Amino acid sequence: MKKISIMLMIAAASTLMAADGAEIYKTKCFSCHGEKAVKPALNKSQVIAGWDAAKTIASVEDYKKGIGGPMKGVMKPIASALSAEDLKAVAETIASFK
Ligand code: HEC
Repeated sequence: MKKISIMLMIAAASTLMAADGAEIYKTKCFSCHGEKAVKPALNKSQVIAGWDAAKTIASVEDYKKGIGGPMKGVMKPIASALSAEDLKAVAETIASFK
């Protein structure tokens, strides 16, 4: 019983972490897209700060399929590593950046 509740706690904690858009942004996007997403990533991407969450999600889904701009190869592995839930959370965080 004790073991089960510990496992449930770990599961709950990891779901929380998975849905933390700010944390995902900081660890997976910040290095290229910059503080609050105001930097053109590698001097190439559009500034994505404030993009509608749906627009970011559509764009990242395209990268998963290998669709994008000239530097899409950079985004493909990053996009592919995001679960749908993580993508939604991080897209909402980016939408909140002004
Ligand atoms: C290694 C650097 C790097 C990281 C890390 C990175 N990106 Fe990008 N991102 C790029 C580059 C370069 C482009 C432009 C790709 C192209 O030519 O289409 C881009 C483009 C984008 C675009 C589309 C903008 C446009 O110009 O059309 C979105 C949305 C985006 N990234 C979201 C994210 C998110 C969300 C994360 C974190 C999960 C992330 N990126 C992490 C480098 C990066």
